[in-house]
Amino acid sequence: MFQAIPAPKGDPILSLITAYNQDPRTSKIDLGIGVYKDDHGITPVMEAVTLAEQKLLQANGSKSYQGLTGDEQFNESIANLLLSGTKALECSATLQTPGASGALRMLADLIAVTAPNATVWISNPSYVNHRPIMEKAGLAVREYTYLDPQTKAVDEEAMLAQIAQLGANDVVLLHGCCHNPSGADMSFAAWQKIAELANNNGFLPFIDIAYQGLGDGLEEDAKGLQYIANNVEEFVISTSCSKNFGLYRERTGAAIIVSQSKTAAMNSRGKMCELARGSYSMPPAHGAAIVDTILRDDQLNQIWRNELTAMNVRVNGLRSALVEEFRAATQSNRFDYFGAHKGMFSLTGISDEHIAQLKDQFGIYIVGGGRINVAGLNSSQVKPLVAAFVTIGA
Ligand SMILES: Cc1ncc(COP(=O)(O)O)c(C=O)c1O
Repeated sequence: MFQAIPAPKGDPILSLITAYNQDPRTSKIDLGIGVYKDDHGITPVMEAVTLAEQKLLQANGSKSYQGLTGDEQFNESIANLLLSGTKALECSATLQTPGASGALRMLADLIAVTAPNATVWISNPSYVNHRPIMEKAGLAVREYTYLDPQTKAVDEEAMLAQIAQLGANDVVLLHGCCHNPSGADMSFAAWQKIAELANNNGFLPFIDIAYQGLGDGLEEDAKGLQYIANNVEEFVISTSCSKNFGLYRERTGAAIIVSQSKTAAMNSRGKMCELARGSYSMPPAHGAAIVDTILRDDQLNQIWRNELTAMNVRVNGLRSALVEEFRAATQSNRFDYFGAHKGMFSLTGISDEHIAQLKDQFGIYIVGGGRINVAGLNSSQVKPLVAAFVTIGA
């Protein structure tokens, strides 16, 4: 049965990790996979998470099945984190999923069931897994103009002109904040315009928010999403606790549907449960229990918020250091975009040759397309990174 299956191509980001781990140079720098690291190069377990785990252990809960919707307390907490104070909350239904990846797939499957001919529009560029997830659900995928390669900012005029052409059979996938891979977020005015276009033209906004709190702060990062929530009747959200709770391997996320009525949202969630039953059945419980414990406990909530702010401050400090160092080394403001970008990533757009040179000559590991995980840098690596860029003329 399996003889004809060809060898897998291998994941470009994951194979970069292997190459990095095998590199004996002590000066090597890993800017590949999108995980947050502290200044010692460690992806820490957050203190709020450890404290929540201790609480859970003492509570001596059960490991019995939880049910298709996952942890309903978590569903309520995560919906509140994103939608509290908006009119969408009342007409929403939340499904716990294995990470935002699971949410993306469940929502894609739901759309494929209800609107099989829909086209999902993703930004150019977008998160590397957006296209495959949507396509594997059977949906057509097309790209809308997003990043201006010269300025490394969002080309909002071109983006909005294109989105203005879309209609009822279209789904527009938007990054809630901290755009992956570019780091360039659209303005609040663009969110407002998209809400207006969705209302006039009838396309479905699909907001993927995987980095809430890692841009300008928890509330600020959800501002665009909340504008949609107050002004558009129907939209969907995929959200992740991988980065902002540091729960990458616990696979914790949620799919949220907002519709014209609570009944419509709940029925859609019921359909997703049915779809999930046909694949992974139920999401893993532990990460969701941690998140819910943190969000319901004032003290843990505060500890978590402080830790998230500290992560944010560290990344923004690295961004400022990169800007300063590049200005000094190039006598230009060519690299000021590092300071304008939000979240963990910046897309440098450097060529494949330069990426290979950085790896071979300096042990600097960057993924194809030139995405740099700024959150993977430590402060002592800023100078050598900038020097390497300047040496190779990137
Ligand atoms: C934009 C975006 N969406 C979704 C995901 C998937 O997140 P998770 O690890 O929770 O599945 C990521 C992960 O990098 C991401 O960057």
